[in-house]
Amino acid sequence: MKILVTGGAGFIGSAVVRHLLAATDHAVVNVDKLTYAADRRSLEGAEANGRYAFEQVDICDEPAVRGVFARHRPDAVMHLAAESHVDRSIDGPGAFIRTNILGTYVLLDVALAHWRGLSAAQAEAFRFHHISTDEVFGALGDAGFFTEETPYDPSSPYSSSKASSDHLVRAWQRTYGLPTVISNCSNNYGPYQFPEKLIPLTILNCLAEKPLPVYGTGSNVRDWLYVEDHARALTLVLTQGRVGESYNIGGNSERRNLAVVEAICRIMDRLRPRAGGASHAALITFVTDRPGHDFRYAIDARKIRDELGFAPSVDFETGIERTVVWYLGHEAWWRPLIERQYGGERLGLAGMK
Ligand code: NAD
Ligand code: TYD
Repeated sequence: MKILVTGGAGFIGSAVVRHLLAATDHAVVNVDKLTYAADRRSLEGAEANGRYAFEQVDICDEPAVRGVFARHRPDAVMHLAAESHVDRSIDGPGAFIRTNILGTYVLLDVALAHWRGLSAAQAEAFRFHHISTDEVFGALGDAGFFTEETPYDPSSPYSSSKASSDHLVRAWQRTYGLPTVISNCSNNYGPYQFPEKLIPLTILNCLAEKPLPVYGTGSNVRDWLYVEDHARALTLVLTQGRVGESYNIGGNSERRNLAVVEAICRIMDRLRPRAGGASHAALITFVTDRPGHDFRYAIDARKIRDELGFAPSVDFETGIERTVVWYLGHEAWWRPLIERQYGGERLGLAGMK
């Protein structure tokens, strides 16, 4: 297949592109606007590959998106392009509404016109895979899990924009017959994640011996999935998922935020001990909570396990060690980002103190 991947220069998108080129025979067309969160250096191996093409295009730019479809005539779409950081969505929701909702609408509309022009066999095989988040389901208490039937109840501008886009995708399938499939995944971590997110931010702050900001009391719970496992799961959903269905993807790795930060501190104490011998954990600083902070996310991943045979291959202890080691070995990747794009300042207080 020729797969049009949107957002392929981002964290998960680049893992998907690397996976498709390394583990399959598919060709990839990467459509990415290259926002602050993108980095073509995450794709160095891909750029030299004859099965890879890059198009710098904003998915909201309908004529440009039509041009890409006309030039490349894809067999499938994997739609990952999005504004993805909850804290930024609190400070400036406009970009999230534009890219995540309007951009998804433009892609659906162009994909539909393209799909209608395909032969019967090609149209039957075509897929539009929308990559979404478990945050659309809102917050859980101490017990329970999100299933594919959990009602949508998003809390942040980010998660509500993703929920909106999920609804659009479902509507294009039910109304126009576009063969779509949706996946909703828990928090990803691993190499090439932009250092605004909890795990890379904590690693780089440890290295700089800066305070490690923990929102509220650090008791909020997230489920963590190693990004390369997510890329593998997405490929299964695209190729074997049933049209019109959605699949939850999780890591079976629920952790309180404080436990995540402490785990990173323990690894850093071993790999990069501080002068004077204090633990990195002494840098932990409890800060004002995120407004609308969802308490807990947890995934019931039985559907993707039973239907598509997916299980995560990397447990949290292995994945977090690998991730810390990766950041320690890739200063040339992250140093320009923290110097030119984002220096670690607090985001998401929406003007509150
Ligand atoms: P990211 O912020 O690292 O990357 C997003 C990419 O999309 C960037 O390369 C950016 O340039 C591109 N992009 C943004 N706006 C665009 C536009 N208007 N046109 C074209 N390209 C544009 O995000 P990520 O963490 O890799 O997330 C990828 C997808 O997975 C998103 O849809 C996100 O909602 C979803 N998701 C993320 C997580 C997570 O933990 N990071 C979990 C579940 C689902
Ligand atoms: P984040 O990586 O922003 O992902 P998401 O909000 O999509 O789950 O945050 C993960 C969790 O960590 C979330 O509960 C907020 C919390 N957090 C902190 O405690 N400190 C931080 O500096 C950041 C960025 C997040």
